[in-house]
Amino acid sequence: MPVQAKIGPSILNADLSNLAAESQKLLDNGADYLHLDVMDGTFVPNLTFGHPMVKSLRNKIKTAFFETHMMVQKPEQWIEPMADAGVNLYTFHVEPVQDVVRVCRQVQESGMKVGLAIKPGTEVQELEKYVSIADVVLVMTVEPGFGGQSFMDDMMPKVKWLRDNYPSLDIEVDGGVGPKTIHCCAEAGANMIVSGTAVVGASDQAQVIKEMRDVVHTYLK
Ligand code: DX5
Ligand code: ZN
Repeated sequence: MPVQAKIGPSILNADLSNLAAESQKLLDNGADYLHLDVMDGTFVPNLTFGHPMVKSLRNKIKTAFFETHMMVQKPEQWIEPMADAGVNLYTFHVEPVQDVVRVCRQVQESGMKVGLAIKPGTEVQELEKYVSIADVVLVMTVEPGFGGQSFMDDMMPKVKWLRDNYPSLDIEVDGGVGPKTIHCCAEAGANMIVSGTAVVGASDQAQVIKEMRDVVHTYLK
């Protein structure tokens, strides 16, 4: 099956005291999934939230597809709690992990899909040995840790390399992506688009989501 264009807003820069309402609004405005940024203050110099909050959100939003972007030092530690919280896609960074294959298996055995993420400084070829077991690959287009940073277009060769080599892989980009930067992401071959500030802060979220999905569509074969 050919890959599909999907827009997954990041709620990192939304009003987190109002998370359920903010999330529901994004879904009502056409979001295909929600991208939930989990940070542990160690792998990245910032702290967000963990599985209790994801579980509370799941209690209010029953059916949406949840991705947790695990910017954590020990992704293996949170697999079971996140599965229990109703997460659909568990995306973790390969950088701090010794046995990536084992963690992938554990994620899949817990009933979730698995995503593999790389920071800007990590070579994309690092992922080569894991792509066959991953459901999604995430190429970071900012240093992970904070929303609202500038898009790094020099990450696009990584996306292009993945698309050239894996035509049916779900390739996600995250960081500084919005209407101004979506074209080069789509042209390089990304089909899962995380967008935080550009969507959450938009006066017309539905328009921004649709615009980005349409651009990705035009590049999909
Ligand atoms: C950065 C996070 C991103 C970020 C996206 O560490 O992983 O998901 O919040 O937000 P924007 O689109 O504002 O860069
Ligand atoms: Zn993210």
